[in-house]
Amino acid sequence: MTIYDDVHSRYITDLFAVEDEALRGVAARAAQAGLPGISIKPEEGRFLQVLVRACGARKALEIGTLGGYSGTWIARGLAPGGRLITLEKEAHHAEVARQTFAQAGVADRVEVRLGDAHVLLETLAGEGPFDFVFIDAEKPGYASYLDWALENLCPGGVVAAHNAFRKGSVAGDAPPDDYTALMRAFNRRFASEPRLLTTIFPAGDGTLVGVKLA
Ligand code: SAH
Ligand code: DHB
Ligand code: MG
Repeated sequence: MTIYDDVHSRYITDLFAVEDEALRGVAARAAQAGLPGISIKPEEGRFLQVLVRACGARKALEIGTLGGYSGTWIARGLAPGGRLITLEKEAHHAEVARQTFAQAGVADRVEVRLGDAHVLLETLAGEGPFDFVFIDAEKPGYASYLDWALENLCPGGVVAAHNAFRKGSVAGDAPPDDYTALMRAFNRRFASEPRLLTTIFPAGDGTLVGVKLA
């Protein structure tokens, strides 16, 4: 018998991932600004928030800001005095995200950096080590983002990466798309990476999570 289904996803969301006004407003504002509706789901956001707090993160990094929806959940999980740096290559997305962070009351804790993450990460290495890294930008970049995270996470730090299921195409019946093979390879690498203790959190589109071993 399968118990975890949409009904239970809704049950978790209604109990644990309740959006406040700021989070509720992101989707509409982002849509109005022409951003794609590809933010993580509330349930996934709550999971990130719990992860961030569980590892006591004071220095968090996000790759792929969009409208600031996931960044708000991450920022709200930070330990007191903690900071989130979030990377975004589209100026328009970064602008919407800055509004989101202001409305959510986390603007003092969040810095949006505009540019190609691959370039920005070169300087960010000097600002580490990081306690938490969330990867949710272009899928071909995932392998090198994970390389960077492995080099720049402290022991006990956590790396998470979105879209492990690639809309149901990596393991399910959904037709494979351009990035299906890539995400299958990425998931296999995650599963066999000796420097991480890993799994996939199965809500939404699946979030890979790994704890950096000493
Ligand atoms: N994490 C967001 C969703 C991110 S969508 C949320 O859940 O709310 C992916 C974002 O990554 C898009 O805004 C896209 O512009 C950005 N992106 C894609 N490639 C990038 C790159 N190379 N460097 C920085 N940002 C990138
Ligand atoms: C899509 C969804 C995502 O969560 C993402 O990070 C990139 C693309 C999509 O549905 O196309
Ligand atoms: Mg995603």
